[in-house]
Amino acid sequence: MPSIRSSYTDSLNFYGGHTPGELAETYGTPLYVYSENLLRERCRDLMNLSEHPGYGVNYSVKANANPALLGIIREEGLVVDAMSPGELHLNTMAGFPPEKILYISNNNSSEELREAIRRTLLVSVDSLSQLAVFGGLNPGGRVMVRFNPGIGAGHHAKVVTAGKATKFGVTPDKLDEVFALLKKYRLTLAGLNQHIGSLFMTPDGYLDAAAVLLDLAERLPDGALKKLEIIDFGGGFGIPYHKYDDEPRLDLAQLGGRLHALITAWSAKTGYGGRFLIEPGRYIVAECGILLGRVQAVKNNGDKRYVGTDLGFNVLMRPVMYDSFHDMEIYPPPEDKTAREQLVQTIAGNICESGDILAKDRLLPAMRENDVLGVLDAGAYGFAMASNYNQRLRPAEVLVRVDGTVSLIRGRETLDDLTRRFP
Ligand code: LLP
Repeated sequence: MPSIRSSYTDSLNFYGGHTPGELAETYGTPLYVYSENLLRERCRDLMNLSEHPGYGVNYSVKANANPALLGIIREEGLVVDAMSPGELHLNTMAGFPPEKILYISNNNSSEELREAIRRTLLVSVDSLSQLAVFGGLNPGGRVMVRFNPGIGAGHHAKVVTAGKATKFGVTPDKLDEVFALLKKYRLTLAGLNQHIGSLFMTPDGYLDAAAVLLDLAERLPDGALKKLEIIDFGGGFGIPYHKYDDEPRLDLAQLGGRLHALITAWSAKTGYGGRFLIEPGRYIVAECGILLGRVQAVKNNGDKRYVGTDLGFNVLMRPVMYDSFHDMEIYPPPEDKTAREQLVQTIAGNICESGDILAKDRLLPAMRENDVLGVLDAGAYGFAMASNYNQRLRPAEVLVRVDGTVSLIRGRETLDDLTRRFP
């Protein structure tokens, strides 16, 4: 098949010897395609950041909760978080035992907390109010507290989760109140966690915030540091979305070296013998996922060329929600061998809103009806944020295994799925 823009996936053999056109034909579009090779590689990148015996990776399941992917992540030795009963259910289905699941959520109902306690999970609370509720439900138990280190980061205001202007965490000036509640309910502070935001491309902010959390751990009253089992620095590790512009990667060697030095020196100084976790979502799963769609219509409105696809924002929300950039590949049908000129094009979906734009004013080879389009780096917060808006059905997901075989890991929704809950 003539490839007019596929050098990135070609170089990785992403589709394992299949063509995207063939996958689109077999499974239909929109279709999420995942590469097991790339998923394992990203898990290993992060598992190898530090050789400190307490170091580990806590995959943040909100980025992608497909149990087939979770199973691979489990095999690679990561643990997982859960932030809802649904994530907990899928983690359990993927074979994670309770001691490998941290319940890191916010603003939970008592029922939700009770269920996490019943399943013997370690729960992180992110407010004094939730700490009191938790204490009432589980007096004498173990608990983690999420602090806000005062340093935020992220690709968009909506995903900065620490600093002054966010709903998350307990500010360190409330330490006395935290300890009063721990005492009141005879709780053991088993862990500290934080998450400064999503998508940083340089290590400094993350490492500064890690140092702030370690300082706080050192200042804990009542000899609490001796009982601490987990210090979790959070996620946010960014990936380069501008693949065709050779955007540099996050310097993991530097980040890992500095993190390792920080935790090694700090454990030696304080005698802490517990675990240090990082909590990435995107870094693990974004690049191993590509969303395939089909060009259904092409037109000029005024002097703007619109390429109409089946990739509405119900399928991939990120561009509409955060103005996020995803690079594109274009795979024409095998019989279409004619040359394509470069044109500025705007790629739209099939949702009835003028904001339903996947990519604005991109200089790309002219797209035509029936081309298959590959949206790169769609594995994180892609399917996880998909919806049934306009009563469109959520897509199927397939996994290209290490040996090149393709497995359907989630069937496409059907009209029955839309009507299942009506009386
Ligand atoms: N830990 C906590 C407590 C979080 O809230 C998050 C993400 C993570 C870890 C993982 O962050 P990551 O490593 O994936 O950056 N929908 C947005 C991202 C929202 C992130 C929400 N929390 C997006 O598509 O960019």
